[in-house]
Amino acid sequence: RLLGCGTAKHAAEIGAFLIESLARVPSVAHISSEFRTNEPVINPNALHFAISQSGETADTLSAVKEIQLKGGQVHGVVNVVGSSIARQCARGVYIHSGPEQAVASTKAFSNMVAALAIFSIQIARSRTLGKEKGKEIINGLQQIPHLIEEYLDDQGPIMEAVEAVKDAKSVLFLGRGISAPVAKEGALKLMEVAYIPCLAYPAGEMKHGPIALLEDGSPVIFIVPNDHVKEKSLSAIHECRARGAKIILIHEEDDIEATEEADISIPVPSCSYLLTPLLTVVPTQLIAYRTALALGCDVDR
Ligand code: BG6
Repeated sequence: RLLGCGTAKHAAEIGAFLIESLARVPSVAHISSEFRTNEPVINPNALHFAISQSGETADTLSAVKEIQLKGGQVHGVVNVVGSSIARQCARGVYIHSGPEQAVASTKAFSNMVAALAIFSIQIARSRTLGKEKGKEIINGLQQIPHLIEEYLDDQGPIMEAVEAVKDAKSVLFLGRGISAPVAKEGALKLMEVAYIPCLAYPAGEMKHGPIALLEDGSPVIFIVPNDHVKEKSLSAIHECRARGAKIILIHEEDDIEATEEADISIPVPSCSYLLTPLLTVVPTQLIAYRTALALGCDVDR
């Protein structure tokens, strides 16, 4: 079980996905504030992770205490050394992201995901994951910083995306599978730094609600890496387009098929699909940042 709030919860969702996919261990992410008040059943043999940038989020700290009170052990995945959550857990890892200047964490998100990916690979190697496959994913992880730099050198049409979202009534973020938490994280960033109402949904749920909001020109940001659920995401894009939505698509650079579906196409370098959140989240952070600046918001507060 992985617990967190906001960005940390989104990293927890990706961690749960990785643990289940790679290690085939049932895994679930919880919102800390709901966890402690929902009378959770604690399995003392389960692994619990408390994820937090600041290490001071009261909801997560209370959840940790709740688990410990009921006989469970909690490992911290925390940035700030010596923080309350780190001390309360007394075990786990520091993610060493350096100070986050504002409430909206960015590099801490990446390091939370990276730490949980490393854990997933290690636990998977002790179970079902073969040596070669394990090595391949670790090598992929080591390449991520270079790929992020490569993307930052050529960020794509971020300013076109900013123009599409900055005066919108609301912005919808969609992604499937491992990209669903990335969509949530993109929406959280845009809300928290540019104060634009945002919705995030797993792409398959789009037709069960948010589609009602789409009108001519509604901006929809799709996160669609070249994975096994891409075709399903493309069909959600078709449905949005049919209602006149403006599609801002974050996709892998060699994916020509996806590009054809977009009004604004933002390519990121390709990598193993399990690691794509580390790349696809970056343009969403830049969109939030640049939109906030365009609207005259102070991004450091
Ligand atoms: C919220 C912030 O209050 O706390 C989010 O608005 C943040 O941006 C969340 O992700 C969790 O913070 P932390 O420090 O526990 O990771």
